[in-house]
Amino acid sequence: MQDLISDIGFVEEKEAASIQVLGDQNTGKARKLYIESYGCQMNFADSEIVASILQKEGFDTTSNIAEADLVFLNTCSIRDKAEQTVRHRLTQINGLKKKKPELMVGVLGCMAERLKTKLLEEEKMVDLVAGPDAYRDLPGLINQADEGEKAVNTFLSREETYADVAPVRLNSNGVTAFISIMRGCDNMCTFCVVPFTRGRERSRDPQSIVREAQELFDQGYREVTLLGQNVDSYKWSAEENNKAWLEKKGITSVVTFAHLLEMVAQVSPWLRVRFSTSHPKDITDDVLYTMARYENICKYIHLPVQSGNSRLLELMNRGYTREWYLGKVEKIREVLGDDCGLSSDMITGFCTETEDEHQDTLTLMDAVVFDFSYMFYYSERPGTLAAKKWADDVPEETKKRRLSEIIKKQNEHSRLRNQRDVGRVHRVLIEGESKRSADYWQGRNSANKVVVFPKESFRKGDYVNVRVDDCTGATLIGQAVH
Ligand code: SAH
Ligand code: SF4
Ligand code: F3S
Repeated sequence: MQDLISDIGFVEEKEAASIQVLGDQNTGKARKLYIESYGCQMNFADSEIVASILQKEGFDTTSNIAEADLVFLNTCSIRDKAEQTVRHRLTQINGLKKKKPELMVGVLGCMAERLKTKLLEEEKMVDLVAGPDAYRDLPGLINQADEGEKAVNTFLSREETYADVAPVRLNSNGVTAFISIMRGCDNMCTFCVVPFTRGRERSRDPQSIVREAQELFDQGYREVTLLGQNVDSYKWSAEENNKAWLEKKGITSVVTFAHLLEMVAQVSPWLRVRFSTSHPKDITDDVLYTMARYENICKYIHLPVQSGNSRLLELMNRGYTREWYLGKVEKIREVLGDDCGLSSDMITGFCTETEDEHQDTLTLMDAVVFDFSYMFYYSERPGTLAAKKWADDVPEETKKRRLSEIIKKQNEHSRLRNQRDVGRVHRVLIEGESKRSADYWQGRNSANKVVVFPKESFRKGDYVNVRVDDCTGATLIGQAVH
């Protein structure tokens, strides 16, 4: 099997791509729109909303920037590096604009929200700036820009959820899809820019969520991921809204995330349900029991810990301690078993972090053994509480060294967790061809691990039982059992 790995070159396959270009749509519209998205899944989902809104206004999307009349960058502000990447891209696009002066350039998303009109001053070639809650206004903003005016809307809403806008799923594999269930974040973690760029937390109408899941299933999709910055604080008043519909489901006061999860799981046993992101302070036992009750709710939780030290967690305003976090993990394993996938985000070198406190993160990792993690070193974000109150005082070399220690540990743990899966049979939903070989399918098991296996006569969207024979750090390799 080791030969096979090197033969067909399976290497670590990264979970989420950080840049996505929206695919082509040819319906004979007059103008062409190119959208490049950065950052998280929520931005990628928003770009599909933008394409949907502009489709009605005479725009087809193109994945070829050279044929675009309108270029949008849907941007991320989470770390300084994310913003630098966008600035660099804007410089490149400026080159294009010099050759084609009528090209309209717009910045959307979190960086647009953070910098507002400043972006127009700093990046002279930008014609349009629209924050995450202003996408319904894009047709108006484009008209303004057509007239030669600088167009800006960075108004943040308390209500907007785009519940009625059907996203155009241009980059879809036809099997898995994301559904936004809420927007914004009220948590105010002191390091984080999201509450400022995405505004107040608001939940989307559950009836529209269930309808979207049903429509996706009817179109042949077999997995949905419910998206929000903190899905566990999903909340919808059943007393005020959709009363009759919810009463039939036995809900009379508040629709919680556990309720929502159950309603989506009931669409069909053949529709897998995932969700992201869970917050350790808010995930309820109810959610865990609901997961346990439904085979089609995937046994995988992304539960970012950020740090293993309680003093740091307090400075970060995460609302839990090391012990609370470890207690949650224990409960997860008690209710869902050891096979439930667990992943995390970690930040090293946050303000005043000492060497001992960094060690606490490493020992927490040893106690949990995550399947994988997204790991970062702290990047100070203007306007956040941490930036206002504390110096970014851990030297860059120290941050980087601590980060590399964490990454090294995580790699060992990922390998350990994958080795446990070898020799076992996993139920895999086929998502498409393996990126490394046309003779192999790629899919994921319930715990969110990527599994590749020879195609035989299976098809995309099939559920297949696969016996895993080998693994790399990030991928399980096996073959179908008949
Ligand atoms: N809502 C999610 C996270 C969204 S941002 C949650 O609460 O877990 C994704 C990750 O980026 C965070 O979990 C955090 O680990 C990282 N991150 C956020 N702000 C950061 C900053 N200023 N510097 C470095 N990493 C940061
Ligand atoms: Fe940022 Fe915290 Fe909200 Fe996550 S929960 S988006 S880290 S403020
Ligand atoms: Fe980035 Fe905004 Fe998402 S800051 S991570 S794109 S919510």
